[in-house]
Amino acid sequence: MNIKESIDRTKLPQHIAIIMDGNGRWAKGLGKMRVFGHKNGVSAVREVLEGAIEIGIPYLTLYAFSSENWNRPKLEVKALMELLISSLHKELPTFQKNGVKLKAIGQLDHLPIKIQKTLSETIEATKNNTKCTLTLALSYGSRSEIIDATKNIATKVAEGTLKIEDITEDIFAQNLYTTGTPDPDLMIRTSGEQRISNYLLWQLAYTELWFSSKMWPEFDRNDLFQAIYDYQSRERRFGKTSEQL
Ligand code: IPE
Ligand code: IPE
Ligand code: MG
Repeated sequence: MNIKESIDRTKLPQHIAIIMDGNGRWAKGLGKMRVFGHKNGVSAVREVLEGAIEIGIPYLTLYAFSSENWNRPKLEVKALMELLISSLHKELPTFQKNGVKLKAIGQLDHLPIKIQKTLSETIEATKNNTKCTLTLALSYGSRSEIIDATKNIATKVAEGTLKIEDITEDIFAQNLYTTGTPDPDLMIRTSGEQRISNYLLWQLAYTELWFSSKMWPEFDRNDLFQAIYDYQSRERRFGKTSEQL
C-alpha cells in the first residue's frame, strides 16, 4: 500500500506538533556520542518538513529544546545551540524555496544572543512565506507559557484595560506564545515514550496523540504519512456522542 496515496487530502490535520525524541539513545545504540544523534536529528527535521509540505500541512510545530533541557551537561547544551545556529543558516534557502515561514516559541530571551539574532533574522526573512508555518519550540516549557499568559492578563486587569469577567478561553489563548496558530490536530512523539514533557499543555486539550517506537533520527516522511493516515481514522468527538457528529 502506498501510504501517501491513501491519505484523504480533504481531511488533513491543519497543525501537527512533534516531540522529536530519542536522538541520544539512537546514537548510543550505534556506539556514538549523543551529539551524533542530534546531528542526525536535523536530517529528520528536513525530511519531515519536506513531507509536510509535499502533502500540504499548513502548521508544523517542533519541540527542539525544553526549559528542562538546560539542565543537561553543559557540553551537550552548547552542541545543541551550535547545531541550531548552523541549521538555521543552512536551511534558509530551503525555507525560501518551499514557502516556509519560521516562528519560535519559548523563553527566547534565555537563548544565547547569537541565536536570538539568527532566529529573528530568519523569522524576518521568511515572514511573507505562506505555504507552511514552522514553529520551533526553544527553551520552551508549557507551564512557564501559562504563567506568562497569566501575568499578561493580570497586568491588563491591573491597568484597567481588561475586566475579570471578560477573561475567556479565547482571551487566554491570545496571551499564549502560540497566539494566531490553531491548536494542534495531531501530536506525534518518537522514541517510545508516551508522555507530554511540558509541551503545549493548553493547546493539546483535544489533540489526537500518536506515538512511534522509532528514534527521531530514524523517522522519515513515510512515518509522518502513516501518522496522518491513522489520524484520519480517529473519531474526534470533542465531548459529544458519535451520533451527534
Ligand atoms: C531529543 O532527543 C532531542 C532533545 C531533547 C534536544 P534526546 O536528546 O532527548 O534523546 P534521548 O531521549 O536521550 O534518547
Ligand atoms: C522532550 O524530550 C523535549 C524535546 C524533545 C526537545 P526530553 O527527552 O527532554 O523529555 P523527557 O525528559 O524524556 O521527558
Ligand atoms: Mg529524550
